[in-house]
Amino acid sequence: MTTLAILTAAGSGTRLGRDVPKALVDLGGSPLVLHAARCLAASGVVDRIVVTAPAGLAGAVSDVVAADAHVACPVRVVDGGPTRQASVAAGLALAGPEDDVVLVHDAARPLAPPELVRRVVAAVRAGHPAVVPGLPVTDTIKRVSPAAATRASAARPDPGPVVERVVDTPDRALLRAVQTPQGFDRALLQRAHAAGAARAAQEDVAATDDAGLVEALGEEVHVVAGEESALKITTERDLALARVLLEGRR
Ligand code: C5P
Repeated sequence: MTTLAILTAAGSGTRLGRDVPKALVDLGGSPLVLHAARCLAASGVVDRIVVTAPAGLAGAVSDVVAADAHVACPVRVVDGGPTRQASVAAGLALAGPEDDVVLVHDAARPLAPPELVRRVVAAVRAGHPAVVPGLPVTDTIKRVSPAAATRASAARPDPGPVVERVVDTPDRALLRAVQTPQGFDRALLQRAHAAGAARAAQEDVAATDDAGLVEALGEEVHVVAGEESALKITTERDLALARVLLEGRR
């Protein structure tokens, strides 16, 4: 009975505007992917890590992660795919029958603490086959119809700024902003990826998280408490906040 962690690191991260993929962007002296791998290894509940690397960079990612003294478990690096979903599927292909639990974690969340990894794995091992960490949301969230649909109905010569029509306002108390690592019974995750495989090639239809594929099967997904420090790095502002958090830890 072992836990395999798939560490997704194959994205380009264009919104950071760097000349290296996001997973290789530096945070306090180490690339994001190395921080994330260290967090998985430090949890003590991960037996193996498979990293999905950007095209042509598997060797560079392997040099960084597999050679690190703090990443004590075995690491393999595979080429990622055109979408996150495809990258996870590429990592999942390396799961074996001995891996009863599979975690999927984003290199874009480099500071997820080891206790979060342990919490997710503990919930899966306690009998919940699909588990995601989540935080209550503080903003009021509105569901909208696409801007294009709204604009098409504007008959005026100058339609003004782009607007989106509000469809409804979900009860905020029932919303959670979900994070990674997400944890799964391995057979369930394989079934979810097999069923959703047709979506994997195209960004506009691909799943943005693995729990979504499990939900599409009609299977239950459960939420455990997330962590503020597991924030996702998308913009320079996120990176600046992560630097502050890292300094605080040191
Ligand atoms: O682009 P985004 O930040 O949503 O990506 C989430 C995670 O998925 C990142 O860690 C990124 O490296 C990874 N990813 C991937 N393969 C892709 C796209 C994203 O492994 N094709």
